[in-house]
Amino acid sequence: MSTQSAPPVEVSKRRKVTTARLAEMKARGEKIAMLTAYDFSFARILDGAGIDVVLVGDSAANVIHGYETTVPITLDQMIDHAAAVVRGVQRALVVVDMPFGSYQGNSRLALQSAVRIMKESGAHCVKLEGGEFIVDSVKRILSAGIPVMGHLGLTPQSIYKFGTYVVRATTDDEAEQLVKDALLLQEAGCFAIVLEKIPAQLAARVAKQLAIPVIGIGAGPGVDGQVLVTHDMLGINQEFAPRFLRHYAQLHDAMQGAFESYIADVKSAAFPKDDESY
Ligand code: KIV
Repeated sequence: MSTQSAPPVEVSKRRKVTTARLAEMKARGEKIAMLTAYDFSFARILDGAGIDVVLVGDSAANVIHGYETTVPITLDQMIDHAAAVVRGVQRALVVVDMPFGSYQGNSRLALQSAVRIMKESGAHCVKLEGGEFIVDSVKRILSAGIPVMGHLGLTPQSIYKFGTYVVRATTDDEAEQLVKDALLLQEAGCFAIVLEKIPAQLAARVAKQLAIPVIGIGAGPGVDGQVLVTHDMLGINQEFAPRFLRHYAQLHDAMQGAFESYIADVKSAAFPKDDESY
């Protein structure tokens, strides 16, 4: 009798996710599920649900800190978020966004920032936005043994260069540059790449051309995995409703309803009852 059968789901769900495991998943056509987290409680729920990759995204600037863009968040803030997430995760791979100003145009600074993230948070990898302009930083970080995820297409840290969040790489020239950048990042040694808000056909072409996993957000179904901002997919943030976002819950209304009920109970002295008291 064969002893090679697949492990039961519960066992395979507990096996730690590594960069090598993501490569195996791409090789066997298993899609990679990635979501963001910025704190211990969300990270623990995501990990318990079986998420493959937890991204400590610099989208924390928007959904946690209330900034309009991701530009203001600092390295110290990202490290605090990452350390809390790491404490909540047992199985998933934890990737941390390097914030704006911590790596662009200076590979020495990039290495210092990446080392701080790894040492002070205990995370497993870092993510950088951009193509050919950041390849030196990517290589230097990799030279220290720190795995790097790339991020192309819509790169929110460059919002002031583009001025808008519209779909990227819609012209032939931009599409060719994106493919070139993706190949450069793979050659430099990135273990995976995020493609944000680009045409589905182009994303599928890149995923086919690259040996490393390609994870999409607003990049269609032809890639190796998907990522969303957790607060957005849970419907906590009602203002943000791009076409690529699927809501898996409507927590804004559920939370507001719960808060209203609590307030009403406190005001009417319906809470606490005797059996909720000592
Ligand atoms: O910061 C973030 O959450 C991200 C994802 C949108 C990919 O970079």
